[in-house]
Amino acid sequence: MQHSVFFIEGDGIGPEIWKAARPVLDAALDKAYGGNHQVDWQELLAGEKALRETGELLPAATLEALKSAALAIKGPLGTPVGKGFRSLNVTLRQTLDLYACIRPIRYFPGIASPLKHPEYVDMVIFRENTEDLYLGIEYKSGSPEAKKLLAFLRDSMGVAVSQEAGIGLKPMTEKGTKRLVRKAIAFARDRGRGSVTLMHKGNIMKFTEGAFREWGYEVAREEFAAVCCTEDAPEAGKVVVKDRIADALFQEVLLHPRDYSVIATPNLNGDYISDALAAQVGGLGMAPGVNMSDSLAFFEATHGTAPAIAGKDKANPCSFILSAAMMFEHMGLPEAAAMIHRAVNKVLADKTVTGDLAGQMENAVTVGCERFAELLGEALG
Ligand code: NAI
Repeated sequence: MQHSVFFIEGDGIGPEIWKAARPVLDAALDKAYGGNHQVDWQELLAGEKALRETGELLPAATLEALKSAALAIKGPLGTPVGKGFRSLNVTLRQTLDLYACIRPIRYFPGIASPLKHPEYVDMVIFRENTEDLYLGIEYKSGSPEAKKLLAFLRDSMGVAVSQEAGIGLKPMTEKGTKRLVRKAIAFARDRGRGSVTLMHKGNIMKFTEGAFREWGYEVAREEFAAVCCTEDAPEAGKVVVKDRIADALFQEVLLHPRDYSVIATPNLNGDYISDALAAQVGGLGMAPGVNMSDSLAFFEATHGTAPAIAGKDKANPCSFILSAAMMFEHMGLPEAAAMIHRAVNKVLADKTVTGDLAGQMENAVTVGCERFAELLGEALG
């Protein structure tokens, strides 16, 4: 069976990572399914390569193809510094309505971690991607827009905020929350995960973060009653839906990581907890991810373009390769994904790795991106 997947190489280290990773991915499919499943990789242009070849950073043809696609994977895209450039990643997320950012966080033995038991960390973050303070509705202190809004708050709403304040808005909707939580609970149900935790700051922000909590429980109650239960009334074999206040959850994931499995959270909390958890397992450079709409699963290496090492054969291709493994799982090809995970474990155990990982290990040997990927390919099986 041929599976069609769009790919965007990306900027900076993107092209070298793609070149190193592709043979590993094809080999994993071959070994796992003896030629019965193959990917037909179809390139889409975006970023610097697109600018060189078409004169545009994000050609309309790329967006059109993605609008009707089911699967795609991308390397990092740089954000040109200077005014007037919107981040390509943000443009892609908004145009394609990629509302769920999903990041699994797991430990790879051998990598230095600040935790005593990093192997207890096995969580999947579902971060809402389209609402909250990230919508960028904010006005600079002293600007005419800020003054107008502050005067409205004072005169029409009776709210006494300093007229000198810079001001931002935090819109969150029932629809935006429910579609995210729905995805998180369905994932927990389908993957046999024991709990979904709604992470929020609803004690302070009642009608945004507090509403997230309420709407989240509503989804569990109204749409997943047969498979969900709550903490006060646990039922064997069901997904426990619970909630934690954001600051308390930061403590909890450090102190009792085994109590948390899937975490569903608004945009800003999700940004913080994703990086904090990745750091707990020492894996910031290894973390895979996907941004999803209802029709498209757009997998991506979660790091940036690493301009300082671009073109030097120093980049670690693991985040991209593990994102592709996540894609294989999503495509119903878990054997290929498991094979890639075993290969990563083996190569890390052998301690012949790229410089970023060698720096987190004792007595490791440093190799380039290309050689590291070859070793991963050899370790498949
Ligand atoms: P970065 O992730 O590119 O680099 C941070 C540090 O990690 C650097 O020291 C870099 O050398 C290292 N690093 C990153 N990936 C690595 C890898 N695979 N192997 C070895 N070392 C690696 O973040 P930075 O410097 O903040 O951003 C650079 C550019 O990337 C910016 O234009 C930014 O907008 C873009 N970016 C794009 C993302 C995406 O497309 N998803 C995500 C984050 C940043």
